[in-house]
Order: sequence, then structure tokens, then C-alpha cells
Amino acid sequence: MNIRPMTMADYDAVLGLMRGTPGVAVRAADAPEAIARYLARNPGLSLVAESDGEVIACVFGGHDGRRGSLHHVVVAPAWRGQGVGRALVARALDGLAAEGIHKTHIDVFADNEAAIAFWEATGWQRRGDIVRFSFNRSVDANV
Ligand SMILES: CC(C)(COP(=O)(O)OP(=O)(O)OC[C@H]1O[C@@H](n2cnc3c(N)ncnc32)[C@H](O)[C@@H]1OP(=O)(O)O)[C@@H](O)C(=O)NCCC(=O)NCCS
Repeated sequence: MNIRPMTMADYDAVLGLMRGTPGVAVRAADAPEAIARYLARNPGLSLVAESDGEVIACVFGGHDGRRGSLHHVVVAPAWRGQGVGRALVARALDGLAAEGIHKTHIDVFADNEAAIAFWEATGWQRRGDIVRFSFNRSVDANV
């Protein structure tokens, strides 16, 4: 397995990985132009893992200058439970640390028990003191 920065050449493979994965929402914000903008704003912080040239896992990483954020951490079903997710997230956090970002957040659907178990097992602190609010300027709820 090889972990390397994601590029737009990985877009179809990464979206393929995300689609049909329960617990991962693919939205208009995942359209190619939005992903290209995200990768350009956060160079080298989104990663893929590949095996024999096939993308088997992905993570989107970025920061706002103060705090990091991860999105869409997905490992292909056949590769789960083998440390791929742990290694991928560790590399993403290394990249953020290299930019001076030492605290990172991720949103997890409350009913995604496997993901919650993963984040707890890999040292992330579950927050009970924060409620997330979102404001949607679009009439499209799926933006
Ligand atoms: C969550 C996910 C990324 C974990 O990736 P993974 O490669 O299977 O995880 P790892 O093998 O690196 O596991 C790391 C630790 O997490 C724990 N863990 C992982 N999956 C788990 C599960 N389904 N149930 C309980 N614990 C789990 C294990 O205890 C493991 O610790 P160990 O190394 O001591 O055994 C993967 O299951 C996935 O892609 N799920 C679908 C997409 C998703 O929900 N992503 C998260 C969105 S927030």
C-alpha cells in the first residue's frame, strides 16, 4: 500500500469509493470544480492510499489557518480492519502538523457506529460540549 497526495486525476476513483458508502454523504459540494478548489486551497493535505495502482482509501484534509478538518475518510470494504484508515489519518495529521495545525475536527453522523469506534480507537476525543449548526443559503438542501 502506498499513501500519496490526492490529485484531480483521482476524482473518479475517489467519488466511486465514496458513493454507496453508508455514513458518507456525497453532495453538490463534491462536484469536480469544488473538489479542485478544495485541493488547490489545501495542497498536499488530501490523500489517497493505493494498492497495485488502485485507489483503496481516501481522506480530504484542510485547515483554516487555526484548526484542521478532515472529511470523507473512506477505506474500501475489502481493505477495512487492516490499519489503512489509521495510517491514512496519521499521514493527514502529519501534513497538518507540518503547517502548524495541531488540533483537527471531523464530523461523524451520530448513527455511524463503526466510524465512532474508529475515531475513539485512534485517539480522537468525542465532544459532548458542542452542537453543530449549519446555515444553508441555497434552496437545495443537498448542497
Ligand atoms: C471507519 C473506517 C474509515 C475505518 O478504516 P479501517 O481501515 O477499517 O480502520 P483501521 O483498520 O485503521 O482501524 C483502526 C482502529 O479502529 C478500530 N475500528 C475500525 N473499524 C472498526 C469497527 N467497524 N468497529 C470497531 N472498531 C473499529 C479498530 O479498533 C482499530 O484498532 P486496532 O488497530 O487496535 O484494531 C472504515 O471502516 C470506513 O471506510 N468506513 C466507511 C466510511 C465511513 O464511515 N467513514 C468515516 C466517516 S466519519
